[in-house]
Amino acid sequence: MAERLRILHYPEPVLLSVARPLAEDGFDPGLREFVENMFLTMEDAGGVGLAAPQVGDSRRIFVMDIPEGDDTPATRATFVNPTILHVEGEQNGDEGCLSFPGIFQPVRREMRVVARAFDVAGKEFEVDVTGLAARCILHENDHLDGIVFLDRMSALKRDLSKRKIKRLQKRGEW
Ligand code: NI
Repeated sequence: MAERLRILHYPEPVLLSVARPLAEDGFDPGLREFVENMFLTMEDAGGVGLAAPQVGDSRRIFVMDIPEGDDTPATRATFVNPTILHVEGEQNGDEGCLSFPGIFQPVRREMRVVARAFDVAGKEFEVDVTGLAARCILHENDHLDGIVFLDRMSALKRDLSKRKIKRLQKRGEW
């Protein structure tokens, strides 16, 4: 049975650290179990993407589960040691993050992403996606580099968000 993991909130240090690649011999049953736990944790929290550092594990792993939408087919996948191969275009839209509960702000991202990664079995795969799936991959891949979506906002929205976080922290709601 998969178990729910605790999602860490900004500014936990692990969220601001560069994660390390999974070793070649790391594709073991433990990884499979961890990934199942991540999917459960993400679904339970109502997210479409979750990166390992968000649950305190500083390895280059993220999961995503994008429902079918106007601009994208359903995409459910685990990305281990991902590489962004190509980006193009631009999209603007509100973004959220499970490590920033209640914060939704516009973030500019590329419209299309081509990425390569390994699945839980260690098999390499490539995706070529647009829209929400592209946004999600870029957001989650940022987590692996210790970059949070706060860093991608306009200065104005960043200040607004930081003030809101401070207020929530003071009230013990963060
Ligand atoms: Ni996030």
